[in-house]
Amino acid sequence: MRQLIAGNWKMHGLSDQLPEIELMAACVASRPLHADVLLCVPATLISRAVQVAAGRLPMGGEDCHAEASGSFTGDVSAEMLKDAGATTVIVGHSERRRLHQETDAVVAAKALAGFRAGLSIIVCIGETQEQRSNGRALTSCASQLAGSLFSAPSKPAVTAIAYEPLWAIGSGHPPSSEQVTEMHQHIRSCLMTQFGGFGSAIRILYGGSVTSDNAAEILSIPEVGGLLIGGASLKADKFDAILGLT
Ligand code: G3P
Repeated sequence: MRQLIAGNWKMHGLSDQLPEIELMAACVASRPLHADVLLCVPATLISRAVQVAAGRLPMGGEDCHAEASGSFTGDVSAEMLKDAGATTVIVGHSERRRLHQETDAVVAAKALAGFRAGLSIIVCIGETQEQRSNGRALTSCASQLAGSLFSAPSKPAVTAIAYEPLWAIGSGHPPSSEQVTEMHQHIRSCLMTQFGGFGSAIRILYGGSVTSDNAAEILSIPEVGGLLIGGASLKADKFDAILGLT
């Protein structure tokens, strides 16, 4: 399966960062790549980012509401992201789960909304430091996975899972290759149980403190279907250095 290298800008990016996106798009177009690439940016930037990327770098949203429209002041629907030119939406990022009290059921409804709007969907899961220390990393992720995914009538309403251990996000301390391997194998087995053959087509990304120094090692792990990158996706030179490793 072709790997996916996705950036997540989180709540970073004003219009003066559009030249950076243009530069990233130029980097992507400058040579043949061995991976798919995606940049998820704040909703306010999507349509302008799509314009400057000019078809060379797909854009995604970072969250969506479960409903298509309605009295939900301040929210953005999956249909709106699609309308702005996004191809993909991230749902269930740990910052949404933790800071906005999003439950697995809420995440599943958002994933289904992305599916309804015709977007690709990246569902994030990951354990806390405490859960890992207590030997509950695998069960905690399995439970998030089971609760956060919907099976739409013909296929699962998800295109990628991003495994992001909370203790690795922004900490500078990614898990060991053994820990990533163990978790990704576990996620794959859960997906196969839940979706049968469809489960093998879902990419499993890794996210948390990825840099150009550790990306090659993580990408070489057989079950790793790509990366979801925060801080190192904000600058074209850093993001491009990771793309060059694929
Ligand atoms: O979604 C990406 C993310 O949570 C990882 O952030 O800055 O540790 O790469 P970072």
